[in-house]
Amino acid sequence: MRWYLDMDPGIDDAVALAVALNRGDVAGITTVAGNVDGEKTFRNAGRLLKVFGRPEVPVVPGARRPLFLAVPTYAEHVHGPSGLEGYPLAEEGLQAASDLPAWQWMAECLRNEDQPVDWVATGPLTNVARFLGAYDDDRYRARVRTITVMGGSLCGGNVTDTAEFNFYADPDAADFVLGSGWPVRMVGLDVTMRPGLPISDLTKLGEMGTVGAVLAGLMGYYAEAIVRLGEASDQIYLHDVVAVAATAHPEKFTWKQVPLQIVREGELRGTVVEVLHGERRPLVDVAVDVDSQWFLRWVWESLGAYQVKR
Ligand code: RIB
Ligand code: CA
Repeated sequence: MRWYLDMDPGIDDAVALAVALNRGDVAGITTVAGNVDGEKTFRNAGRLLKVFGRPEVPVVPGARRPLFLAVPTYAEHVHGPSGLEGYPLAEEGLQAASDLPAWQWMAECLRNEDQPVDWVATGPLTNVARFLGAYDDDRYRARVRTITVMGGSLCGGNVTDTAEFNFYADPDAADFVLGSGWPVRMVGLDVTMRPGLPISDLTKLGEMGTVGAVLAGLMGYYAEAIVRLGEASDQIYLHDVVAVAATAHPEKFTWKQVPLQIVREGELRGTVVEVLHGERRPLVDVAVDVDSQWFLRWVWESLGAYQVKR
């Protein structure tokens, strides 16, 4: 599994990165404004790669603003002002691997790939939309096996009653990507909120040295933030990790093919709507169920690679 990650770290992005590094060949990371501003998400990706012992993985910053919305939406109330609250990480991130904008760098990377790769997007889809807008041709389509997107929901939202954060933050990008006809898979709240990670299980991270301590601190903060939001729960939802799992093991998920549209403005901004008639839309693979027990086992097995050898 060779994959590129487009992320907005973000605490669940951090866990998704830790898992992806052990479950495949992370060829590169692009970052996007989302949970926090674009400067912070880029710095955070570098801070995490240093902690995970993988500073050689190239990381390139992307969009700092949504495609068209004048006002960005952040989630600092969940991930903290830095985007990675809960553990005192090194201040410095990594140098950008290229001066190109993320979507141009992604095109350059794909031109150098000799086999199709997987692309996992765990933040707002601004970078992916800009890429598709500029490189939507067979030369690049031949090099992308799937684009798995953590975002959206057919069953209610987490920012408004109906909209999920990544699609709410840049609804225009989400609508463009899901209507693009590329091999897009949507992993939304329909499945990411099924396998909750019991907070009591975070003690397992104690055997994983510094990485374990970092992830325990980050996820502890994430859990407290959710309680502060009044969503008291004894478990946390690792939305972005579910998208990584769906890319690596789609057979553990139940999918349905649906033509989708994303509401771009107004009270329903960011809401996913099944297109029943009118504008023809390509079918999108939407995850509607997941083997939750398998997922939780898979996450701990993935993190086990950080186990400190006694
Ligand atoms: O709605 C959950 C998504 O929004 C996750 O990707 C989380 O990191 C935030 O970006
Ligand atoms: Ca994210």
